[in-house]
Amino acid sequence: MGSIKKNIFSDTDIEKSIFKDESVFYPDYHPQNILARDSQIKNLTYYLKPIISKKKANNILISGPPGTGKTLITNYVLNQLTDFSNKVKFIYINCIQDNTRFAVLSKLVSFYNGVLPRRGLAIDEVWQRLTELFSKSEIFPIIVLDEIDKMDLDDSSKLLYDLSRFYINSKYFTLILITNHKPFILKLDTRTQSSLFLNEIDFLKYKPTEIKQILKERIEFGLIDNCLSQDLLGYVCGYSASRGGDARIAIDLIYKSAKASEKRGELVILKEVLLDSSKLVDSVKLFEKIECLNQREQEILNLIEEPITTKDLYLNTKIPQRTVRNIIDALEKLELISVDSLSQGKGKTRVIKLRFDKSLLKN
Ligand SMILES: Nc1ncnc2c1ncn2[C@@H]1O[C@H](COP(=O)(O)OP(=O)(O)OP(=O)(O)O)[C@@H](O)[C@H]1O
Ligand SMILES: [Mg+2]
Repeated sequence: MGSIKKNIFSDTDIEKSIFKDESVFYPDYHPQNILARDSQIKNLTYYLKPIISKKKANNILISGPPGTGKTLITNYVLNQLTDFSNKVKFIYINCIQDNTRFAVLSKLVSFYNGVLPRRGLAIDEVWQRLTELFSKSEIFPIIVLDEIDKMDLDDSSKLLYDLSRFYINSKYFTLILITNHKPFILKLDTRTQSSLFLNEIDFLKYKPTEIKQILKERIEFGLIDNCLSQDLLGYVCGYSASRGGDARIAIDLIYKSAKASEKRGELVILKEVLLDSSKLVDSVKLFEKIECLNQREQEILNLIEEPITTKDLYLNTKIPQRTVRNIIDALEKLELISVDSLSQGKGKTRVIKLRFDKSLLKN
């Protein structure tokens, strides 16, 4: 006689959850309170103000390390502006997704409700189409180009030059460029640099106390009461502060450890689970950085196990010395390695050390 099998879901307690509202941890969540960014909000508002009285605003460069609120604050201020004045509209473009001049110009055409024929157009025809739509339109347009440094350099030089010099009937595009690598500006064509007239706003990394303020809302709205101790919260703030003062890391760490604790049937976040999750967050961040390296950069990184001098590194690879030197600079900027100068005999030698734990890359 076969016994009646229990449904495998019957033992799972669907009612019990560590979360009050999981969506506050999602990347597209709009926080009700934006903390620790008063001066950036004030400056951005000030720079955009002329547009309300139909005057020209200078273009704006927003820069700062990852997870410091650049995208959040820009969207927040622009939404406030478009609520205030129905003559102003903005378009948000992420240049990782739309990474060519053609892609951005096509997006701008659709911003004006223009349609491009399926047969495909040459870029000059797209530009022509945009000019027609722009001249007929009544709106004052703001273009946000987020992650602008990820666009091909020639494309961004040309695009920014054209957009910043463009005006018809005293109407302009106002550009907001967002980047976490400000020196990219210096690589643009010098004509483009001088046409842009940028007002700059810097976003500094968050301090542990600021991260604590930012987390308050997510914890209050997102988790059941008292499931995260003050000690562990302090650990999360210190952890993300030491990884670039990145609010996203802090939010992700709490989310991952709440998920993992719940999976174990717990309604509190346990210390061991939080520590495991922090290793996971570290390795994900590391993978993201390493994935962006080109083949030669990866080859050089693979050669560094123990501390090694630049001289030994040159001997171990067929890549020309000059290129290796550039690669070392790039890896140092990404904080994957550190480079120290040591006096040796008469001259100086440079010693390279890894700045991450290679075991994080296993599995
Ligand atoms: N001041 C803040 N108050 C509340 N939440 C914040 C604040 N700053 C950042 N966050 C949250 O942290 C996360 C990262 O913010 P955001 O995406 O704006 O960073 P970013 O500077 O644009 O980073 P990246 O350079 O990686 O694009 C988002 O979930 C955002 O809601
Ligand atoms: Mg961003």
